[in-house]
Amino acid sequence: MCRVNEILQRSFKMQKIHVSLQSSSYDILLAHNELAEMLKGYRESWRQYDQIVVIPDEHVWQLHEHYFREAMTMNGLENYLVKPIPAGESSKSIDVWEEVQTFLLQQNCNRNTLLVAFGGGACGDVVGFIAATFLRGVDYCQMPTTVLAHDSSVGGKTAINHSLGKNLLGAFHQPIAVLYDSSFFDTLSEKEFRSGFAELWKHAWLSDANWLQELEISVLQNSWRSIPWVAELTKGIQVKVSIVERDVFERHERKYLNFGHTFSHALEKGIGYSEISHGEAVAIGILFDLLISAEKGFIPHQLVKEKITFIHSLGYPLNKVSSVPFENYYELMVRDKKATKTGIQFVLLHTIGNPVVETIEKKLLLHAYHLFQQLIEEVAND
Ligand SMILES: NC(=O)c1ccc[n+]([C@@H]2O[C@H](COP(=O)([O-])OP(=O)(O)OC[C@H]3O[C@@H](n4cnc5c(N)ncnc54)[C@H](O)[C@@H]3O)[C@@H](O)[C@H]2O)c1
Repeated sequence: MCRVNEILQRSFKMQKIHVSLQSSSYDILLAHNELAEMLKGYRESWRQYDQIVVIPDEHVWQLHEHYFREAMTMNGLENYLVKPIPAGESSKSIDVWEEVQTFLLQQNCNRNTLLVAFGGGACGDVVGFIAATFLRGVDYCQMPTTVLAHDSSVGGKTAINHSLGKNLLGAFHQPIAVLYDSSFFDTLSEKEFRSGFAELWKHAWLSDANWLQELEISVLQNSWRSIPWVAELTKGIQVKVSIVERDVFERHERKYLNFGHTFSHALEKGIGYSEISHGEAVAIGILFDLLISAEKGFIPHQLVKEKITFIHSLGYPLNKVSSVPFENYYELMVRDKKATKTGIQFVLLHTIGNPVVETIEKKLLLHAYHLFQQLIEEVAND
C-alpha cells in the first residue's frame, strides 16, 4: 500500500461498536493495522480458555500468518492450534464442517474452547456454524479480512451450503467479539472490493439517502484501496447492529437486511458460485429489487436506470443476468429459505431508508426479469 494511503487509513482511530443482546452482547473493534492493540482487551479472558483453535481461510493464512502470529505473541497468546480450511465459498460444505469437528474431537477440545474465524465471510459463516454445533456450542471470535465481512461477521447468522441451495444449514450463534483490521484489505483483489462494497451499498439504501450519495461519490472518486474504509464500514455496521438488536432472530425487521438477496441467491446458485462473487450478485439483486419497487410505483424508474449505470461503471458483471433462464430463477427463488407458503418474498423500498417486505407474484417477476435484461442492454450500449 502506498505511503499516502497508509497514512489516510491510519488516520481513523479505533472504533468500538457495542452489540447489545442480553447474555450474548459483544464488541466490534475496527481499526487499520492494529490487530495487536485490539487483542489487548481480550488477552486475559482468552487465557482462561482450555484451548484456542484458529481456523483460517488457507489463502488468508498464506498471506497474513506472520502478522496474525505477531499480534497474538505480543499479547502473550502463544498456545493455540491452527486448522486451515479451503479458501472461500468451497469451505461452506458439510465435508469441511465434519472435518473440522473431527479435528476438534481428536484434539480433545472441550466446551471451554475458543474458535477464531480468520478470513472472509465464508470462513466466518462455517466457523460460526462449527462453533454453534460443536458440543452444543462453544465461543468463537470473528476476525474478518474482507470488506464484505463487515456484514457477515456481525449478527450471529452462521451457515453452510447444501447441494439444494445456499446457506440452508445454519444457526444463530453470536461471536464473543469481532476484531476487524482493515490492513488485511491490502491484499484484496478488485473483485473482492467490488463484492464487499455491495453489502455496504445495501446498508446505505436501508438507512440514509445522504450517506448513500456520499458513498457513491466516494467510490467514483477514489480507487478501491483509498476509500476511508474504517469510517464507511463503521456506518454500515451501525446500521446492521441497530436492526439486529431489535430483531435478532429475523422475525420482522431483520428481513430488511435481505434487500437484494432473493434474486442474488438464485443468480449465484443458477450460474455457479465460482462464476460470480456473493457481493457482485447482491449488487445485481439490489437493482432487481429497485426495479420491482419502481414497478410498484414506489420509486421512479429513472432512479433504477441511474443505478444500473452506476453499477455497470464499477464493473459488476451485469451480463450474467441473462445466463440464467427465468424458469430457473423462479424455481430457485421458490426454494429459497426466505420464501413462505404465500410466495416469494422481496425487500422493496418505499423510499431510501424505508424498506418493506412484500410477496411478489410470478407474473410481475417475469415482467421485471425481461425489463431488467432490456435496461442492462441499453446501459451497456450507451
Ligand atoms: N452470515 C451473514 O450474515 C452473511 C452476510 C453476508 C454474506 N455472508 C456470506 O459471506 C460469504 C462471502 O464472503 P466474502 O465476500 O468475504 O468471501 P469469501 O470469504 O468467500 O472470500 C473471498 C475470497 O477472498 C479471499 N480473501 C479473503 N480475505 C482476503 C484478503 N485479506 N486478501 C486476499 N484474499 C482474501 C478468500 O480466500 C476467497 O478466495 C458468502 O458465503 C455469504 O453467504 C454471510
